[in-house]
Amino acid sequence: MTEMQIEPPEYVKNQKLVEWVQQTAELCQPDSVHWCDGSQEEYDRLCQEMVESGTFIRLSDEKRPNSFLCRSDPSDVARVEDRTFICSIRKQDAGPTNNWVHPKEMKETLRKLYNGCMKGRTMYVIPFSMGPLGSHISHIGVEITDSPYVVTNMRIMTRMGRRVIELLGEDNDFVPCLHSVGAPLEPGQKDVPWPCNDQKYIVHFPEERSIMSYGSGYGGNALLGKKCFALRIASSMAREEGWLAEHMLILCVESPEGQKTYVAAAFPSACGKTNFAMLIPPDSFEGWKVTTIGDDIAWIKPGRDGRLYAINPEYGFFGVAPGTSEKTNFNAMETLKENCIFTNVALTPDGDVWWEGMTKTPPDGLTDWQGNPWSPDSSKPAAHPNARFTAPASQCPSIDPEWENPEGVPISAFIFGGRRSDVVPLVYQSPNWYFGVYLAATMGSEKTAAAAGKIGDVRRDPFAMLPFCGYHMGDYFNHWLHVGRELSEPPRIFGVNWFRKDENGSFLWPGFGENMRVLKWIVDRVHGQASAVESPLGWMPKYESMEWSGLEEFTYEQFSKLMIVDREVWKKELLSHEELFEKLYDKLPKEFSHIRELLLSTFWLSPEHWELAPERFTDTGENNH
Ligand code: GTP
Ligand code: SPV
Ligand code: MN
Repeated sequence: MTEMQIEPPEYVKNQKLVEWVQQTAELCQPDSVHWCDGSQEEYDRLCQEMVESGTFIRLSDEKRPNSFLCRSDPSDVARVEDRTFICSIRKQDAGPTNNWVHPKEMKETLRKLYNGCMKGRTMYVIPFSMGPLGSHISHIGVEITDSPYVVTNMRIMTRMGRRVIELLGEDNDFVPCLHSVGAPLEPGQKDVPWPCNDQKYIVHFPEERSIMSYGSGYGGNALLGKKCFALRIASSMAREEGWLAEHMLILCVESPEGQKTYVAAAFPSACGKTNFAMLIPPDSFEGWKVTTIGDDIAWIKPGRDGRLYAINPEYGFFGVAPGTSEKTNFNAMETLKENCIFTNVALTPDGDVWWEGMTKTPPDGLTDWQGNPWSPDSSKPAAHPNARFTAPASQCPSIDPEWENPEGVPISAFIFGGRRSDVVPLVYQSPNWYFGVYLAATMGSEKTAAAAGKIGDVRRDPFAMLPFCGYHMGDYFNHWLHVGRELSEPPRIFGVNWFRKDENGSFLWPGFGENMRVLKWIVDRVHGQASAVESPLGWMPKYESMEWSGLEEFTYEQFSKLMIVDREVWKKELLSHEELFEKLYDKLPKEFSHIRELLLSTFWLSPEHWELAPERFTDTGENNH
């Protein structure tokens, strides 16, 4: 092993950090060590170096100033859930929904892989804060990586650099996050634009609060502040300390009267969080405004007043590119105008980016995400379905004035929604916290391109947290029930589904900005201002209790199609809840079996009692509340 003496800058006073960096350098044997200060100069220099090495393509200075395109290795395009591990000391603490290996055994495996893995490369030390610097809800991490792509993305996604080191002081704690692409270079060996390794390990040690990632350079596998720290490690910290770390966007709805309502919503990966967080209300919603606090992760703490307060621990957006357009998400398109990194999108001949859904007709002469010429009759998409943009949150026109408030914003409603082409209605409200936790826990969603694996199959994705919970899912449900019990003003809980389809496979709901109609009903319910009918799933809007101006062509018949709760279909759905429950049996909250029984009994009532006959959605129905 080469003896290498790292020399930290004089402002680094934290002995634990210096020792960890020293040991990691000895193990990984990089050519050099660079402590990231987070400056613009450093960012520009790394980008320029990546342009020269072929990792980045500089986009047109006119079309997309200070922005870059990066093409990943075709095998490294999404999170790898089957290579993601929660290595708690006891297997039962990770639970049956997580991969587990004993920490000792895992560390032995990883030690061999990390040995010399950074040869020929620079090792970067990235100090970062998840959450506004100094907020009592924030936490500090330090990522060591051999990927300059990771450094530049982390600078957009987190508050990083020298000011974090200063906050760390001599003995404040941090979460050590070790990352390597796992591609050492022999002397004289030429590098590739996107180094990675076929063997991948995304590993979390919840007890010692540390992360080790190997073999992938992509998104949630490599930007360790995001899913690894802010969800898997943080969820386990949150459980111990009485708060919540969730896969949720946070937004604010402001009424024409100036009343502000903050809402957090959990949708699984690639199911609409970024779009919902940046929603622009239809023109007919005069005076209504939606602003963005976060688009992917929420850290939520009970306040002294019995309410929940949420911060967005991130500093940027790592968003799905395909489907993003001026029409569907104008605010995102504005955010993407400059200072962005685009991964696996298509390139136009004039040095700009393109992806499916950005414009109706693709521009001529595109180069696809793998660098090949592309034309509209190609059988493959020009951009990878999980192509992403990395963009500073501060550039978003809808960013909320409170988005960096260290105290967080008070949450009045939680919304849970999956991608379901049938079964689940557009919107419904849980009668109480317990039903709400049940509805979130049993949420199903069709698999998307955000993770490797077969697309389209429905799976249970409790709280949109299945791939992100750092401990036993059953304990997680109990934690949610526990947090709710302590609140004097628990947020109301809602279920939504933007993705229901008709017999021909077309979406029944226009979605995007039109989701404001659902959001307004939710906000009105929170303030006791909208009526609803009772259904087996909870409260549902009547046609009349939703705002339709500007969308009059959306008929009452279309609405009832969206809202149908079919008895036979739901009996099957309840059976599939049972599958999840069996898996989590030893730790399943007792409340859940009672709620399931209640639901079953509702569905077994004679049809006149439960069937959502169309007239029940109108004012002539008897069950108005
Ligand atoms: P992650 O970043 O993976 O966590 O995804 P996300 O939950 O932020 O999803 P995002 O908002 O990026 O949307 C994912 C895909 O769903 C995009 O292609 C969107 O265009 C599409 N989408 C978002 N909202 C809607 C909607 O209301 N209706 C329909 N039909 N599609 C939507
Ligand atoms: C997700 O998959 O939910 C994402 C993208 O937000 S990643 O950062 O890769 O996790
Ligand atoms: Mn996400």
